[in-house]
Amino acid sequence: MRFNPTCTFLLLVVAACSRYVGDAQAATFSLPQTCPPSFELRDDGRCYLVSLYQFYDSVQNRGVGGTQTALPAHRDGFTPAQIGLGKWLFFDPLLSGNHQLSCASCHRPDKGLADGRAHSIGVTGKPVKRSAPSLWNVGFLDHLFWDARADSLEQQAAGPLFDPNEMGNTPQQLLSDLANSEIYPALFKAAFPHAESPNLADVMTALAAFQSTLVSLNSRYDQYAHGYHQALSEREIEGLNVFRSFVARCAECHQPPLFTNNQIAVIGVPEAPGQPLDPGAQVPFNAAKLRGGFKVPTLRNVTKTAPYMHAGNFAGLRDAVEFYNKGRGHAVPPEESLQIHWHIWDPQLTDDELDAIVTFLGALDDESLMPPVPVAVPSGLPPVDADYRAPQTHTQTGK
Ligand code: HEC
Ligand code: HEC
Repeated sequence: MRFNPTCTFLLLVVAACSRYVGDAQAATFSLPQTCPPSFELRDDGRCYLVSLYQFYDSVQNRGVGGTQTALPAHRDGFTPAQIGLGKWLFFDPLLSGNHQLSCASCHRPDKGLADGRAHSIGVTGKPVKRSAPSLWNVGFLDHLFWDARADSLEQQAAGPLFDPNEMGNTPQQLLSDLANSEIYPALFKAAFPHAESPNLADVMTALAAFQSTLVSLNSRYDQYAHGYHQALSEREIEGLNVFRSFVARCAECHQPPLFTNNQIAVIGVPEAPGQPLDPGAQVPFNAAKLRGGFKVPTLRNVTKTAPYMHAGNFAGLRDAVEFYNKGRGHAVPPEESLQIHWHIWDPQLTDDELDAIVTFLGALDDESLMPPVPVAVPSGLPPVDADYRAPQTHTQTGK
């Protein structure tokens, strides 16, 4: 509880004072009434995404790599209060079993909403199976996780929360921690007026609401796509043209504007030395042809999220791009016969073309809607893990 000079003098009214401090604290963690940037508040009191891409035709009419293609459906329609509550939850280590990890520990604002590690570290201190993907534009995805095993953000969140190697929580502990908090019950009541007390479905909805606001569609590439040619340098345009050429074929899978086609592809990425092959999508879909198949990741803000691929064993972006040039299936272990996707072949790109692609990928950087890291969260625990240094310029408004 914060030091309050009034209270030290009025010892006899300690109770009244602590209520006063409690109210002040609750006010610090108030919920916004307006939508985040890029969203408009409609008459139904909910936030809807606004983007120039909504004026364009469907993907099908524009061919591969076309710039003015439409976006797939987005998970919008949450209230400002739900989004605000989701933000507090996302940054609050109260959500983990040992109160030391928040979602933001592995999806860090200073690391492109990934964590900079080949494999994330969960509550046990041991590395988890795969690398943390960035969360930019997850509101557009209908399959989540590298192996596409979740169909919605709500379903996805149960994964890290209750996995003993990730956040290691239980539904019982999570709900009792929230119910016993001085702040959360009122925030849940404000965001979900019909619920008696914090419940799991509302935790998942709030997390989905917040994550749906992690939109990145205003890079220099986007300005170019909307018709402002000067937004890209000649070299970047050269890279874009290699990227979407029928030789390189990157845009077949990393399809604009999301730079993913939302599908699974078997491309034969190697594991770290000595590690067994990760069967990927074979397991959830129970399909041999998906062995070694992974979700095509977005390439937006990809310069921020090294190391790359599901196993995180490509240290730099140049290495990840060069993978495609080393021959179809070159890294597949000899005892495996993976059904490599037909667009993976041997494009024989020159060093200069590979460099141009890497240069172009930098034009996809846009973190203008990155939420500021809160300096405090409702539980009073530190918002993200200790080795994270919050930028000094951010102030916390709860909005
Ligand atoms: C211990 C680190 C860690 C924590 C904590 C964590 N995540 Fe993740 N997250 C990961 C990893 C690793 C993956 C990929 C796992 C896989 O694909 O099998 C992932 C995947 C995801 C995805 C799927 C993204 C995509 O493109 O498919 C979403 C969404 C996500 N996490 C949200 C969350 C939320 C919300 C929380 C908090 C409730 C959270 N994460 C906590 C490490 C973490
Ligand atoms: C057949 C579909 C397909 C094609 C074609 C393709 N990719 Fe990929 N890309 C994927 C998949 C699937 C992954 C994730 C694989 C994994 O982690 O095992 C991926 C991962 C990546 C990554 C790592 C991203 C991250 O966040 O870890 C980069 C960078 C990348 N691709 C760039 C390219 C470039 C450049 C080209 C063209 C030369 C290209 N891709 C062509 C499907 C494709």
